[in-house]
Amino acid sequence: MAARVTPGAAARPPGATELQMLRYAEDVRRLYRQLQRSICQSLLGLANALEAKDPYTRGHSERVGAWGGRIAAALGLPAEDIDTITQAGLLHDIGKIGVPEAVLRKRGPLDESEWALMRNHPIVGAQIVAPFEFFAGGSLVIRHHHERWDGSGYPDGLTGAAIPIGARVVAVADVFDALTSDRPYRPALPRGTVLAYLAEEAGRSLDADVVAVLLGLVRLDAA
Ligand SMILES: [Fe+2]
Repeated sequence: MAARVTPGAAARPPGATELQMLRYAEDVRRLYRQLQRSICQSLLGLANALEAKDPYTRGHSERVGAWGGRIAAALGLPAEDIDTITQAGLLHDIGKIGVPEAVLRKRGPLDESEWALMRNHPIVGAQIVAPFEFFAGGSLVIRHHHERWDGSGYPDGLTGAAIPIGARVVAVADVFDALTSDRPYRPALPRGTVLAYLAEEAGRSLDADVVAVLLGLVRLDAA
């Protein structure tokens, strides 16, 4: 059915009551955005507490958040998704707050029970942020940041495009930053070695399009 149009309605300026309603709606939106930012700041406090437990990850969350945002922007994702991916990148390992320090700092390989604890961190992280409805997309990114393109990842063994795009972006940023930083069990790898590894993993464990974007950004930074 065709919509009924009142002649002259579009040209009529809003009345005082309508203006007041518009201002009220804008105030509510602004307050909601402030509240979201405050909640994200509190969660960041938790992420910082995690980094205090695990000095080898110091700065890692911030770098993964920053790379995640840059990759998301270069992929042409909407601004809202870029924000979500940046925040989720910052908080991606927040579930490690539930992993004992002895496991986080262990220099040798993990045994089966330690590995089980580690593999649980994406689920714990997603549960920590789950109460915040506005961050539902971020919770999904956190849950799936260890999935692999070929389905060999965890916790759900998702494959290819079934893995949320934000999680594919954070996965590439995470691998890139982890390999270019010192870890308890090895020193940082040379950047060239890391880039060659990423190119090899493109289309295998990592999303090839996302890897291509990261390689392009790294080249751009080096130019
Ligand atoms: Fe992780």
